[in-house]
Amino acid sequence: MAMRKVGLSVVLMASALVLSGGMVYSEEPVPMPQVPAEYAGKHMPAGGWTDPKAIEEGGKIYLGEANQLVNCGSCHGKDGQPVKKGARDLRDPKNTTRFSDSFWFWRVSEGVPKTKMQNWKKYLSEEQIWQVIAYEHQFSHGNKPAEHTDYKP
Ligand code: HEC
Repeated sequence: MAMRKVGLSVVLMASALVLSGGMVYSEEPVPMPQVPAEYAGKHMPAGGWTDPKAIEEGGKIYLGEANQLVNCGSCHGKDGQPVKKGARDLRDPKNTTRFSDSFWFWRVSEGVPKTKMQNWKKYLSEEQIWQVIAYEHQFSHGNKPAEHTDYKP
């Protein structure tokens, strides 16, 4: 009697583990890395996502016309279609809707460790980083300026 109870609970526990494990793998997207405290308070300046002047400047930065050492398009592609292996596809809203403005600013500022994505803040001012972000954001919005209201935490 007692043994049967133990046996049953082992079976139940094992199946609960299998079920919860299965759910974790099938439904949970890979969690986003946490934005460090020094970047958590960084936000797109008012109107910055759609400001035509800022986006024009951002385009020059993206294409390497503002600073030859910074050419985002050489990896992410002139039109956002990646040309270097491993570079994020910035046309895919599955990527960009997961980037908060602070996350985006942090990654462009500091780069991504162990990848070709460099620390760009050594070449770009904060204003320029926001400009290039607003430019890039167009790739996931039919190449048109857009508010970042599709961000889903
Ligand atoms: C030498 C190639 C290269 C250049 C130049 C480059 N990137 Fe990247 N970028 C990458 C790679 C590779 C990744 C993917 C890193 C990873 O695995 O998350 C990436 C990722 C990103 C991401 C997503 C960050 C994340 O955590 O997923 C953004 C945003 C981005 N790049 C913007 C830019 C901007 C803006 C510029 C220009 C200032 C730029 N990149 C220049 C290679 C590059």
